[in-house]
Amino acid sequence: MFIVMIGPPGVGKGTQCKRLVNQLGIPHVSTGDMLREARKSVSHGEDLLAHMDRGRLVSDEVVTELVERRLELPDCQNGCLFDGFPRTIQQAETLDKILGKHGKSVGLAIEMSGDDKLLVQRMLKRAAEEQRPDDTVETLTRRLEIYQRETVPVAKYYEERGLLCQVSGIGTPDEVSLTIRQQIRDNGGKYRENSS
Ligand code: AP5
Ligand code: MG
Repeated sequence: MFIVMIGPPGVGKGTQCKRLVNQLGIPHVSTGDMLREARKSVSHGEDLLAHMDRGRLVSDEVVTELVERRLELPDCQNGCLFDGFPRTIQQAETLDKILGKHGKSVGLAIEMSGDDKLLVQRMLKRAAEEQRPDDTVETLTRRLEIYQRETVPVAKYYEERGLLCQVSGIGTPDEVSLTIRQQIRDNGGKYRENSS
């Protein structure tokens, strides 16, 4: 199953996807992680730095090219968990085309929500622990604004196609996991045997 995890910065997309990988037996495809890796290379470095560190979106072309290449790998043939992708309507449409070429499609989009104050608190805590350059108060405000403008319409895109479910990202990681697992199960997702 191809699952899209949508949600504002700091809501817990990465945290929840990492928990689901083993339970579902599909890989975690995080465009944020892929871009942080790609920015180390000479060909992409400067451009990506400029956008990511200011909390702006990287171009649809760069992101979709990375995703298309990732989806060609054997571990993605039965599905994956997209984290932070698609983030614009254009990315959502391109993803449909990429998957459609192979007779596949998005099976479920999960929109995680949380209030801005809590999200900022979580990210500032992470900034102290992990030193991610885009976890500053100024950049966070921009990332939240961009989320509202560019990515909330993506949730609507999936809602119109009957693929969206909404979960709260507020609560302990275990509480949030429980709700997400239930939603995936209710929507036809299959867990591995022995996965509680
Ligand atoms: P990306 O890496 O995707 O960042 P993001 O969407 O801003 O989200 P975060 O990773 O900050 O938050 P998260 O929801 O994963 O939360 P997490 O689990 O870490 O993107 C970074 C940048 O890359 C973008 O700004 C853009 O420049 C570029 N980019 C990426 N994808 C792109 C795309 N498709 N198109 C264009 N540009 C793109 O949790 C946050 C913290 O809270 C952690 O410390 C965690 O331990 C803690 N936490 C999590 N859950 C809980 C809980 N339930 N209770 C308490 N603490 C919790
Ligand atoms: Mg993340």
